[in-house]
Order: sequence, then C-alpha cells, then structure tokens
Amino acid sequence: MNNERRKKLMKIIAPQHIAITMDGNGRWGKERGKTRSEGHYAGAQTMEHIIEASRDLGIKILTLYAFSSENWKRPLEEVNYLMFLPIKFFKQKLPIFMKKNIRIMISGDLTKVPKRTRNAITKAIEKTKHNTGIIVNFAFNYGGRDEILQAMRRVIQEVRENKVHPEQIDEELVQQFLYTSELPDPDLFIRTGGEKRLSNFLLWQAADAELYFTDQYFPDFTKDFLLEAIYEWQRRKNIDQYDVLRNTV
Ligand code: FPP
Repeated sequence: MNNERRKKLMKIIAPQHIAITMDGNGRWGKERGKTRSEGHYAGAQTMEHIIEASRDLGIKILTLYAFSSENWKRPLEEVNYLMFLPIKFFKQKLPIFMKKNIRIMISGDLTKVPKRTRNAITKAIEKTKHNTGIIVNFAFNYGGRDEILQAMRRVIQEVRENKVHPEQIDEELVQQFLYTSELPDPDLFIRTGGEKRLSNFLLWQAADAELYFTDQYFPDFTKDFLLEAIYEWQRRKNIDQYDVLRNTV
C-alpha cells in the first residue's frame, strides 16, 4: 500500500474504540535510574499525547487502564503517587479538555479511592459530561472479574425484585450493569511493555477485540506506535478489500 492510500485509509477508517493497558512505566523509570513514580509521571505525559493523537485520528473512545484493583498491593509510596496523579492531571487539563470537547468517563469502583482523588475524578466527569468529542474512559480501581461480579449481584437483585425472569438474562442485560454500559466494546486492545496478558482488563468487553502487544514501554509509546497498531488492526480486518470511499467496514 502506498503512503497516500495509507493516509486516506487512516483518515476514514480507524477503530471506534481502542483500549490500552499502559504497562512498563516502572521499568522505564528503573532503566533510567529514576523511581517508578517518575516512570508513571512520564507515562501520564505520554497518555496526553496519545489522547491528542487518538482525537486527531477520529477515534471515538479511548479506554486507558490507569489503576487496577491489583495495584493496591504495590508499595504505599507508589500507590499514593498513583492516587495523586489524577488530582494533578485533571487540575491542569480540565480547561483543555473543555476546549477540545473531550469527555471523561470512569470504569471502576471509586468508593475505595481516597476522597481527594475521587473528587478530582468526579469533577472531571461532571464538568465534561456534555462534551461530544472523544470519550476518554479511565479504568481506575478497575478489575474485570470484580466488574462481572458486581453486575451479577445487580442481575440477581433484579430477579429478586421480579423485574427480570432468570430465562430473560442475556448478554444485553448483563452489559447494562457493566461499568462500560454506555460504551460499545473495544475493537482494538493494545498492551505496551512486552507482556502478553489481559491482566483482568475488560474481560467481558474484549471478547471480540483484536489484541495487539508491543514491547515498547508506555512512556515510549508515541503516535507512530499507535499508528502501527491501527495499521495492524486494518490489516487483520482486511480493510484493503473494502470500498474505502463508501466506508463499508
Ligand atoms: C503499569 O506500569 C502502569 C500503571 C499501574 C499506571 C499507569 C498510569 C498512568 C500511565 C498515568 C495515569 C494518570 C492519570 C491521570 C489517570 P507498571 O508500573 O506495571 O510498569 P512495570 O511493568 O514496568 O512495572
């Protein structure tokens, strides 16, 4: 495929929803004689570029794994830093998100998150809720199994209250109780940092996603690497075979 054609394809056909496991911050820091938290800080900066790049590429939803329910087991200093990052980030970036029409959403259990962090996150959700551009959905204190369990509890509650009969329980119903109930499933699931595991991320939603793994540590994951992942997605979807002008994917 020549570059012009590539550009044309890129412009028109990008995955609607991309999910990224932003792995490798700690190793990135360590290999540079820095702390793991400095690695997370660098990761947050990369995250900003990736949000911007995704917006430019016409991606509608970006789900970012920012803090997993397993991450509480990390050293206290690192956990504290990861709880502080959203406070700093949203304080600085909210005006920009408003200007760029970016909507913030969260998937995860915020009840267990420290109050200041929770407040910063809920303020960002509230303030951007009418924005109509790209949705940036942060998975924060998120665990895929936890998510499915809490959905099961709510389904059972519906049955108990006679709102639903057991035989009516289907995928659509369960989907309504997931954190991502408002969002379509991801088309492309990217993991940086070299490991090839789901790590409890989007276990339900990624059932049909294309999986893409790269050795790049997240702080090094530039727009070009994102494009590589999208080209690979296009290749797997045989997008060349479609009539690009009619956009029939
Ligand atoms: C995994 O790398 C990364 C995380 C646990 C945190 C990711 C968070 C960010 C990129 C910034 C989030 C910012 C906001 C504002 C929500 P790792 O620490 O597991 O890296 P390693 O595998 O090298 O140890």
